[in-house]
Amino acid sequence: MTGINMGQMLLKAKEGQYAIGAFNIFNYISAKAAIKAAEDLNSFLILQTSVGTVKQIGASQLIEMLNILRSDTKVPVIVHLDHCKDVSLAKECIDKEWDSVMIDASEKSLIENIDTTLEVKCYAEKKNVTVEGELGVIRGVEEEIIVDEEKTTKYSEVVEYLNATGIDAIAPAVGTAHGLYKGAVSINYDLVKKISKNIDCPVVIHGGTGLEDDVFKRLIRNGATKINISTALKHAYIDACREYIQTNNEEYNPLKLDAYVESKIYEVVKKHIITFNSVDSVTR
Ligand code: 13P
Repeated sequence: MTGINMGQMLLKAKEGQYAIGAFNIFNYISAKAAIKAAEDLNSFLILQTSVGTVKQIGASQLIEMLNILRSDTKVPVIVHLDHCKDVSLAKECIDKEWDSVMIDASEKSLIENIDTTLEVKCYAEKKNVTVEGELGVIRGVEEEIIVDEEKTTKYSEVVEYLNATGIDAIAPAVGTAHGLYKGAVSINYDLVKKISKNIDCPVVIHGGTGLEDDVFKRLIRNGATKINISTALKHAYIDACREYIQTNNEEYNPLKLDAYVESKIYEVVKKHIITFNSVDSVTR
């Protein structure tokens, strides 16, 4: 549908020293805002759908809505399923023509993770759908873990996992976490660099919300090619609703509220595309 798959897009990003923002959208407004920002900046875009969003909207309805929204865009827009632990849901999204899925069996042993990932990869490959896998658990900040090198993914396991599965993108645990960071983040940049330098498979960074611009830039310099942003969009959405209603408490035209919220999501996506250096990536 896009003419370029996610794996190819990420390899292009690696070559060009930029990263593609993968934004978790959750409804029509957030998807529309993200697409508009990518179009205005002539950037590749990955729209991610969480399992919760798929379940709330319904897989068929969601993909149909996103296909309509991206049908006449000037930039390639990939639709990717984020953090799916359920093999049958991943297969359902593959059947419904998501471009890409993430199978997250990171809580299992390495052998079981390989088996689960391989099952999804074999299924996806027949339908030209790309697969992202996770190795080492990327935690939520609420778990208050202190990340040290011991807790990040082991390079030798990355090699074993990728040789066995042949997936299209890898999300290793490098020290980032989902949600809002409470303190300083300690990132294993060497692991990102080592994977990126020695292995063709593109490196994905989860837990993008709240990282400083220089952290993003250093990650990209070390080879990160896909950076996931979710919490920032959710916060922008809810904060914008609250702000609009508080300052316009006599206004009952929902279209005005929607337009305001859309503009706030647009700003968040735009800011990240600029920081990730993916402006004009489509024609570079
Ligand atoms: P944040 O919610 O921290 O931005 O993380 C997003 C993510 O990694 C989704 O997979």
